[in-house]
Amino acid sequence: MEPLTRRSVLAGFAAFGINSGLGSKLSPAMAQARGTPYGIAVELKPFRTDPQYRQALIDHADILVPMNMLKWASLRHTKDQFDFARADEIIAFARKHGKSVRGHNLLWYGYNPKWVDAISSRREAERVLVDHIEQVVDHYREVVPSWDVVNEVVAHNPLKGGNWRDGIWLKHLGPDHVAIAFRTAAKTDPSAQLVINDYDLANSGLRFDARRSAILGIVRKLQDQNIPVHGVGMQAHLYAERGFDRDGVAQFIQKLSKLGVNILITELDVIDWRLSKNTVRRDMGVANVVAEFLDVIYSTTEPQSITSWGITDRYSWISDVFKRKDGAPNRPLPLDRNYQKKPMFDVIENYRKAAQKS
Ligand code: XIL
Repeated sequence: MEPLTRRSVLAGFAAFGINSGLGSKLSPAMAQARGTPYGIAVELKPFRTDPQYRQALIDHADILVPMNMLKWASLRHTKDQFDFARADEIIAFARKHGKSVRGHNLLWYGYNPKWVDAISSRREAERVLVDHIEQVVDHYREVVPSWDVVNEVVAHNPLKGGNWRDGIWLKHLGPDHVAIAFRTAAKTDPSAQLVINDYDLANSGLRFDARRSAILGIVRKLQDQNIPVHGVGMQAHLYAERGFDRDGVAQFIQKLSKLGVNILITELDVIDWRLSKNTVRRDMGVANVVAEFLDVIYSTTEPQSITSWGITDRYSWISDVFKRKDGAPNRPLPLDRNYQKKPMFDVIENYRKAAQKS
Protein backbone atom coordinates (compact mmCIF):
# COMPACT_ATOMS: atom_id res chain seq x y z
CA MET A 1 0.00 0.00 0.00
CA GLU A 2 1.08 3.51 -0.67
CA PRO A 3 2.37 5.05 2.55
CA LEU A 4 0.15 7.76 4.00
CA THR A 5 1.66 10.92 2.62
CA ARG A 6 0.05 14.30 2.30
CA ARG A 7 -0.44 13.48 -1.38
CA SER A 8 -2.45 10.31 -0.74
CA VAL A 9 -4.48 12.00 1.98
CA LEU A 10 -5.30 14.91 -0.31
CA ALA A 11 -6.20 12.59 -3.16
CA GLY A 12 -8.66 10.99 -0.75
CA PHE A 13 -10.17 14.35 0.13
CA ALA A 14 -10.42 15.26 -3.53
CA ALA A 15 -12.34 12.06 -4.24
CA PHE A 16 -14.99 13.21 -1.75
CA GLY A 17 -15.07 16.71 -3.19
CA ILE A 18 -13.51 18.18 -0.06
CA ASN A 19 -11.52 21.24 -0.90
CA SER A 20 -8.36 21.69 1.08
CA GLY A 21 -6.07 24.63 0.58
CA LEU A 22 -7.01 28.18 1.34
CA GLY A 23 -6.49 28.91 5.00
CA SER A 24 -8.77 30.83 7.29
CA LYS A 25 -7.74 34.33 6.28
CA LEU A 26 -10.31 34.86 3.55
CA SER A 27 -11.07 38.55 3.70
CA PRO A 28 -14.67 39.67 3.62
CA ALA A 29 -14.07 41.02 0.12
CA MET A 30 -12.98 37.64 -1.13
CA ALA A 31 -15.77 35.76 0.59
CA GLN A 32 -18.41 38.11 -0.83
CA ALA A 33 -16.80 38.52 -4.21
CA ARG A 34 -19.29 38.36 -7.01
CA GLY A 35 -18.13 35.30 -8.86
CA THR A 36 -14.50 34.29 -9.11
CA PRO A 37 -12.40 36.76 -7.05
CA TYR A 38 -10.56 39.22 -9.29
CA GLY A 39 -7.07 40.41 -8.45
CA ILE A 40 -4.92 43.24 -9.79
CA ALA A 41 -1.13 43.46 -9.55
CA VAL A 42 -0.20 46.92 -8.30
CA GLU A 43 2.78 48.98 -9.43
CA LEU A 44 4.11 51.33 -6.79
CA LYS A 45 4.79 54.38 -8.94
CA PRO A 46 1.30 54.95 -10.35
CA PHE A 47 -0.13 53.79 -7.05
CA ARG A 48 1.62 56.77 -5.47
CA THR A 49 1.10 59.33 -8.19
CA ASP A 50 -2.06 58.57 -10.18
CA PRO A 51 -5.38 58.96 -8.31
CA GLN A 52 -7.27 57.33 -11.19
CA TYR A 53 -5.13 54.25 -10.80
CA ARG A 54 -5.93 54.00 -7.10
CA GLN A 55 -9.61 54.48 -7.87
CA ALA A 56 -9.51 51.68 -10.44
CA LEU A 57 -8.03 49.37 -7.80
CA ILE A 58 -10.81 50.32 -5.38
CA ASP A 59 -13.51 49.92 -8.03
CA HIS A 60 -12.49 46.65 -9.60
CA ALA A 61 -10.30 44.46 -7.39
CA ASP A 62 -11.14 41.85 -4.77
CA ILE A 63 -7.44 41.07 -4.30
CA LEU A 64 -4.32 43.23 -4.65
CA VAL A 65 -0.85 41.86 -5.40
CA PRO A 66 2.22 44.07 -4.97
CA MET A 67 3.74 43.64 -8.43
CA ASN A 68 7.40 44.13 -7.48
CA MET A 69 7.63 45.29 -3.87
CA LEU A 70 7.75 41.83 -2.27
CA LYS A 71 10.53 40.66 -4.58
CA TRP A 72 13.99 40.22 -3.10
CA ALA A 73 15.51 43.24 -4.82
CA SER A 74 12.81 45.44 -3.29
CA LEU A 75 12.90 43.98 0.23
CA ARG A 76 16.59 43.17 0.60
CA HIS A 77 18.87 46.03 -0.31
CA THR A 78 21.45 44.52 2.01
CA LYS A 79 21.90 41.14 3.58
CA ASP A 80 21.00 42.38 7.05
CA GLN A 81 18.00 44.49 6.18
CA PHE A 82 14.35 43.99 5.35
CA ASP A 83 12.70 47.07 3.84
CA PHE A 84 9.03 46.31 4.20
CA ALA A 85 7.78 49.91 4.00
CA ARG A 86 6.83 50.03 0.32
CA ALA A 87 5.06 46.67 0.26
CA ASP A 88 3.36 47.67 3.51
CA GLU A 89 2.05 50.80 1.79
CA ILE A 90 0.20 48.75 -0.83
CA ILE A 91 -0.99 46.15 1.66
CA ALA A 92 -2.31 48.79 4.08
CA PHE A 93 -4.31 50.28 1.20
CA ALA A 94 -5.68 46.84 0.35
CA ARG A 95 -6.83 46.30 3.91
CA LYS A 96 -8.31 49.76 4.22
CA HIS A 97 -10.46 49.07 1.19
CA GLY A 98 -11.45 45.53 2.18
CA LYS A 99 -9.33 43.78 -0.43
CA SER A 100 -7.47 40.54 0.12
CA VAL A 101 -3.77 40.25 -0.76
CA ARG A 102 -1.59 37.72 -2.56
CA GLY A 103 2.15 37.68 -1.95
CA HIS A 104 4.46 37.52 -4.99
CA ASN A 105 7.00 35.92 -4.46
CA LEU A 106 9.37 34.20 -2.01
CA LEU A 107 11.85 32.64 -4.43
CA TRP A 108 12.74 33.50 -8.02
CA TYR A 109 15.84 33.27 -10.17
CA GLY A 110 15.25 36.90 -11.18
CA TYR A 111 14.89 40.31 -9.54
CA ASN A 112 17.43 39.51 -6.84
CA PRO A 113 19.79 42.05 -5.26
CA LYS A 114 23.48 41.91 -6.24
CA TRP A 115 24.64 40.55 -2.89
CA VAL A 116 22.68 37.34 -3.52
CA ASP A 117 25.04 36.54 -6.43
CA ALA A 118 27.93 36.52 -3.99
CA ILE A 119 26.53 33.57 -2.00
CA SER A 120 29.22 30.94 -2.27
CA SER A 121 28.13 27.78 -0.49
CA ARG A 122 25.17 25.49 -0.02
CA ARG A 123 25.08 26.25 3.68
CA GLU A 124 24.98 29.97 3.18
CA ALA A 125 22.33 29.71 0.44
CA GLU A 126 20.07 27.63 2.66
CA ARG A 127 20.57 29.95 5.63
CA VAL A 128 19.79 33.07 3.57
CA LEU A 129 16.76 31.52 1.85
CA VAL A 130 15.22 30.11 5.03
CA ASP A 131 15.81 33.34 6.92
CA HIS A 132 14.22 35.40 4.13
CA ILE A 133 11.09 33.26 3.92
CA GLU A 134 10.71 33.12 7.71
CA GLN A 135 11.01 36.87 8.10
CA VAL A 136 8.79 37.82 5.18
CA VAL A 137 6.01 35.28 5.78
CA ASP A 138 6.06 36.08 9.49
CA HIS A 139 5.86 39.83 8.87
CA TYR A 140 2.69 39.31 6.81
CA ARG A 141 1.19 36.42 8.80
CA GLU A 142 -2.03 38.25 9.62
CA VAL A 143 -2.50 39.91 6.26
CA VAL A 144 -1.29 37.72 3.38
CA PRO A 145 -3.33 34.52 3.12
CA SER A 146 -1.77 33.29 -0.12
CA TRP A 147 1.82 33.20 -1.40
CA ASP A 148 3.56 32.46 -4.66
CA VAL A 149 6.21 30.48 -2.82
CA VAL A 150 8.33 29.71 -5.84
CA ASN A 151 8.20 31.56 -9.15
CA GLU A 152 9.33 30.17 -12.51
CA VAL A 153 11.39 27.23 -11.23
CA VAL A 154 10.69 25.17 -14.36
CA ALA A 155 13.11 25.55 -17.28
CA HIS A 156 11.86 27.58 -20.24
CA ASN A 157 12.26 24.43 -22.34
CA PRO A 158 12.55 21.28 -20.22
CA LEU A 159 13.22 19.27 -23.40
CA LYS A 160 16.62 20.94 -23.60
CA GLY A 161 18.72 20.31 -20.54
CA GLY A 162 16.15 19.17 -17.99
CA ASN A 163 13.27 20.44 -15.91
CA TRP A 164 14.96 23.02 -13.75
CA ARG A 165 15.39 26.71 -14.37
CA ASP A 166 18.95 27.84 -13.85
CA GLY A 167 19.65 30.38 -11.18
CA ILE A 168 21.29 31.09 -7.90
CA TRP A 169 19.08 28.76 -5.82
CA LEU A 170 19.44 25.78 -8.16
CA LYS A 171 23.17 26.38 -8.37
CA HIS A 172 23.69 26.04 -4.63
CA LEU A 173 20.78 23.91 -3.45
CA GLY A 174 19.84 21.79 -6.46
CA PRO A 175 16.17 20.81 -6.89
CA ASP A 176 15.80 20.90 -3.08
CA HIS A 177 15.39 24.67 -3.22
CA VAL A 178 11.71 24.16 -3.95
CA ALA A 179 11.15 21.83 -0.97
CA ILE A 180 13.11 24.14 1.31
CA ALA A 181 10.98 27.11 0.28
CA PHE A 182 7.63 25.35 0.70
CA ARG A 183 8.64 23.70 3.98
CA THR A 184 9.79 26.99 5.45
CA ALA A 185 6.69 28.89 4.31
CA ALA A 186 4.41 26.17 5.73
CA LYS A 187 6.21 26.12 9.06
CA THR A 188 6.13 29.91 9.36
CA ASP A 189 2.44 30.25 8.49
CA PRO A 190 0.60 26.93 8.59
CA SER A 191 -2.66 28.56 7.48
CA ALA A 192 -1.29 30.24 4.33
CA GLN A 193 -2.17 29.01 0.86
CA LEU A 194 1.10 27.98 -0.82
CA VAL A 195 1.33 28.25 -4.59
CA ILE A 196 3.84 27.24 -7.24
CA ASN A 197 3.67 29.88 -9.97
CA ASP A 198 4.85 29.53 -13.57
CA TYR A 199 4.29 30.62 -17.17
CA ASP A 200 3.59 28.89 -20.50
CA LEU A 201 1.30 26.22 -19.10
CA ALA A 202 -1.68 26.47 -21.45
CA ASN A 203 -0.52 26.20 -25.07
CA SER A 204 -0.09 23.22 -27.38
CA GLY A 205 3.26 21.78 -28.24
CA LEU A 206 5.90 19.51 -26.76
CA ARG A 207 7.58 22.29 -24.81
CA PHE A 208 4.28 23.12 -23.10
CA ASP A 209 3.51 19.44 -22.40
CA ALA A 210 6.92 19.17 -20.80
CA ARG A 211 6.32 22.26 -18.67
CA ARG A 212 2.97 20.92 -17.42
CA SER A 213 4.60 17.55 -16.61
CA ALA A 214 7.42 19.26 -14.77
CA ILE A 215 4.94 21.14 -12.56
CA LEU A 216 2.99 17.95 -11.84
CA GLY A 217 6.23 16.19 -10.98
CA ILE A 218 7.21 18.91 -8.52
CA VAL A 219 3.78 18.87 -6.86
CA ARG A 220 3.87 15.07 -6.47
CA LYS A 221 7.39 15.16 -5.10
CA LEU A 222 6.47 17.77 -2.50
CA GLN A 223 3.43 15.78 -1.41
CA ASP A 224 5.50 12.60 -1.20
CA GLN A 225 7.73 14.46 1.23
CA ASN A 226 4.67 15.58 3.20
CA ILE A 227 5.28 19.19 2.25
CA PRO A 228 2.09 21.14 1.59
CA VAL A 229 1.39 22.74 -1.80
CA HIS A 230 -2.12 24.06 -2.33
CA GLY A 231 -2.19 25.75 -5.70
CA VAL A 232 -0.64 26.08 -9.12
CA GLY A 233 -0.51 29.65 -10.40
CA MET A 234 -0.84 29.86 -14.17
CA GLN A 235 0.68 33.22 -15.00
CA ALA A 236 -1.15 33.54 -18.32
CA HIS A 237 0.95 36.08 -20.16
CA LEU A 238 -0.91 35.05 -23.29
CA TYR A 239 0.63 35.27 -26.77
CA ALA A 240 -2.19 36.18 -29.13
CA GLU A 241 -0.60 34.13 -31.93
CA ARG A 242 -0.42 30.81 -30.04
CA GLY A 243 -3.08 28.10 -29.75
CA PHE A 244 -4.26 26.52 -26.50
CA ASP A 245 -4.17 22.80 -25.74
CA ARG A 246 -7.71 22.15 -24.47
CA ASP A 247 -7.16 18.47 -23.64
CA GLY A 248 -3.68 18.95 -22.26
CA VAL A 249 -4.83 21.71 -19.93
CA ALA A 250 -7.97 19.80 -18.88
CA GLN A 251 -5.88 16.77 -17.95
CA PHE A 252 -3.36 18.93 -16.14
CA ILE A 253 -6.10 20.55 -14.04
CA GLN A 254 -7.82 17.23 -13.35
CA LYS A 255 -4.61 15.58 -12.21
CA LEU A 256 -3.91 18.51 -9.90
CA SER A 257 -7.43 18.43 -8.57
CA LYS A 258 -7.03 14.74 -7.65
CA LEU A 259 -4.01 15.79 -5.64
CA GLY A 260 -6.10 18.44 -3.88
CA VAL A 261 -4.32 21.28 -5.68
CA ASN A 262 -6.23 24.30 -6.98
CA ILE A 263 -5.68 26.46 -10.05
CA LEU A 264 -5.15 30.21 -9.81
CA ILE A 265 -4.69 32.58 -12.74
CA THR A 266 -2.03 34.90 -11.46
CA GLU A 267 -0.64 37.30 -14.08
CA LEU A 268 -3.13 37.62 -16.91
CA ASP A 269 -2.32 39.96 -19.79
CA VAL A 270 -2.05 39.66 -23.58
CA ILE A 271 1.07 40.04 -25.68
CA ASP A 272 -0.49 41.92 -28.59
CA TRP A 273 2.63 42.60 -30.68
CA ARG A 274 1.39 40.53 -33.66
CA LEU A 275 -2.22 41.75 -33.64
CA SER A 276 -3.70 44.41 -35.92
CA LYS A 277 -2.61 48.01 -35.49
CA ASN A 278 -6.25 49.03 -35.66
CA THR A 279 -7.29 49.45 -32.04
CA VAL A 280 -10.85 48.17 -32.41
CA ARG A 281 -9.67 45.00 -34.10
CA ARG A 282 -6.76 44.68 -31.68
CA ASP A 283 -9.00 44.98 -28.63
CA MET A 284 -11.31 42.32 -30.08
CA GLY A 285 -8.30 40.10 -30.73
CA VAL A 286 -7.07 40.54 -27.17
CA ALA A 287 -10.53 39.81 -25.75
CA ASN A 288 -10.80 36.70 -27.94
CA VAL A 289 -7.54 35.29 -26.68
CA VAL A 290 -8.65 35.82 -23.09
CA ALA A 291 -12.06 34.27 -23.82
CA GLU A 292 -10.45 31.21 -25.38
CA PHE A 293 -8.10 30.83 -22.47
CA LEU A 294 -10.79 31.25 -19.83
CA ASP A 295 -12.99 28.84 -21.72
CA VAL A 296 -10.28 26.19 -21.56
CA ILE A 297 -9.92 26.71 -17.80
CA TYR A 298 -13.58 27.10 -16.85
CA SER A 299 -14.66 24.05 -18.87
CA THR A 300 -12.65 22.01 -16.38
CA THR A 301 -12.74 24.07 -13.19
CA GLU A 302 -13.44 27.48 -11.73
CA PRO A 303 -10.03 28.94 -10.88
CA GLN A 304 -9.67 30.19 -7.34
CA SER A 305 -8.95 33.68 -8.55
CA ILE A 306 -8.09 35.60 -11.72
CA THR A 307 -5.41 38.26 -11.32
CA SER A 308 -4.38 40.53 -14.16
CA TRP A 309 -0.82 41.88 -14.24
CA GLY A 310 -1.91 45.49 -13.98
CA ILE A 311 -5.26 47.02 -14.86
CA THR A 312 -4.68 49.80 -17.43
CA ASP A 313 -2.73 49.86 -20.71
CA ARG A 314 -1.15 53.03 -19.32
CA TYR A 315 1.20 50.93 -17.17
CA SER A 316 2.32 47.46 -18.23
CA TRP A 317 5.54 45.49 -18.47
CA ILE A 318 4.33 44.28 -21.90
CA SER A 319 5.04 47.75 -23.26
CA ASP A 320 8.68 47.42 -22.15
CA VAL A 321 9.34 43.82 -23.14
CA PHE A 322 7.04 43.10 -26.10
CA LYS A 323 7.08 46.36 -28.07
CA ARG A 324 5.35 46.37 -31.44
CA LYS A 325 7.39 46.83 -34.63
CA ASP A 326 5.02 49.56 -35.85
CA GLY A 327 5.61 51.52 -32.66
CA ALA A 328 1.90 51.54 -31.73
CA PRO A 329 1.42 51.42 -27.96
CA ASN A 330 0.55 47.98 -26.54
CA ARG A 331 -2.99 47.24 -25.34
CA PRO A 332 -2.54 44.20 -23.07
CA LEU A 333 -4.92 44.90 -20.14
CA PRO A 334 -8.63 45.20 -19.25
CA LEU A 335 -8.81 49.03 -19.18
CA ASP A 336 -7.43 51.39 -21.82
CA ARG A 337 -5.04 54.25 -21.10
CA ASN A 338 -7.97 56.45 -20.07
CA TYR A 339 -9.37 53.84 -17.71
CA GLN A 340 -12.23 52.92 -20.03
CA LYS A 341 -13.33 49.29 -20.06
CA LYS A 342 -12.17 47.28 -23.07
CA PRO A 343 -13.77 44.08 -24.37
CA MET A 344 -11.18 42.13 -22.34
CA PHE A 345 -12.72 43.55 -19.17
CA ASP A 346 -16.18 42.27 -20.08
CA VAL A 347 -14.88 38.84 -21.02
CA ILE A 348 -13.26 38.40 -17.61
CA GLU A 349 -16.37 39.70 -15.88
CA ASN A 350 -18.62 37.32 -17.84
CA TYR A 351 -16.60 34.24 -16.97
CA ARG A 352 -16.33 35.23 -13.33
CA LYS A 353 -20.04 35.79 -12.98
CA ALA A 354 -21.15 32.81 -15.04
CA ALA A 355 -19.17 30.60 -12.68
CA GLN A 356 -21.16 31.94 -9.76
CA LYS A 357 -24.49 31.11 -11.41
CA SER A 358 -23.64 27.58 -12.52
C1 XIL B 1 7.63 41.97 -13.93
C2 XIL B 1 7.05 43.33 -13.58
O1 XIL B 1 5.79 43.47 -14.19
C3 XIL B 1 8.00 44.43 -14.01
O2 XIL B 1 7.51 45.68 -13.54
C4 XIL B 1 9.39 44.17 -13.45
O3 XIL B 1 10.28 45.12 -13.97
C5 XIL B 1 9.88 42.78 -13.81
O4 XIL B 1 8.92 41.82 -13.38
N1 XIL B 1 6.67 36.99 -14.53
C6 XIL B 1 6.58 37.29 -13.19
C7 XIL B 1 6.49 38.71 -12.77
O5 XIL B 1 6.46 36.39 -12.35
O6 XIL B 1 7.07 38.93 -11.51
C8 XIL B 1 7.10 39.63 -13.80
O7 XIL B 1 6.81 40.97 -13.40
C9 XIL B 1 6.54 39.35 -15.17
C10 XIL B 1 6.84 37.94 -15.59
